[in-house]
Amino acid sequence: MESNTTSSDEQRYQVRRLEITDKNKGFMELLQQLTVCDSVTDEEFQKRFEELKAYGDDHVICVIEDLNLSKIVATGSVFIEKKFIRSCGKVGHIEDVVVDSGARGMQLGKKVAGFLVDHARLTGCYKVILDCSEDNRAFYEKCGFKKKEIQMVKYFI
Ligand SMILES: CC(C)(COP(=O)(O)OP(=O)(O)OC[C@H]1O[C@@H](n2cnc3c(N)ncnc32)[C@H](O)[C@@H]1OP(=O)(O)O)[C@@H](O)C(=O)NCCC(=O)NCCS
Repeated sequence: MESNTTSSDEQRYQVRRLEITDKNKGFMELLQQLTVCDSVTDEEFQKRFEELKAYGDDHVICVIEDLNLSKIVATGSVFIEKKFIRSCGKVGHIEDVVVDSGARGMQLGKKVAGFLVDHARLTGCYKVILDCSEDNRAFYEKCGFKKKEIQMVKYFI
């Protein structure tokens, strides 16, 4: 247990995989705190949820539910990329990590990152990588990451 996390916090904040009912617990509103994220219909959500579920352990979305409020307060995802290099090795890609603005500073982001890193390691990845802003560098360093190279991007919209 983290030194600044009490046992009542452990019971209050449940770390688990995304469930379809999480749309009704503020999951999309949480993603809106990260980036452009228009609302989606229940049908659109269900279709995407099932597409992602079909990837099994190769695509995992972690959430933390505040059980007192029945609200999703943190999330992040990891995608497992299968390669030919490194003896058909695998790489984990972490994306879309966000903690609700009212729940930051309580180690929830670190818990999400830890869940995703553990998943990548346990599925046999030789590394796990992510992109972040300079502002979030210190957070990810606290989660055990180190800076390497640069990010390149080309947007289509
Ligand atoms: C970045 C973010 C996920 C951190 O979540 P959080 O729950 O507040 O972070 P934690 O409480 O788990 O912090 C873990 C450690 O990192 C440190 N930390 C967190 N954010 C930090 C920051 N911006 N700068 C420096 N240190 C930071 C904490 O002090 C803590 O240190 P400790 O372990 O020594 O106590 C959250 O601020 C957030 O959602 N930001 C907006 C969305 C975003 O930028 N997501 C990242 C996309 S790459």
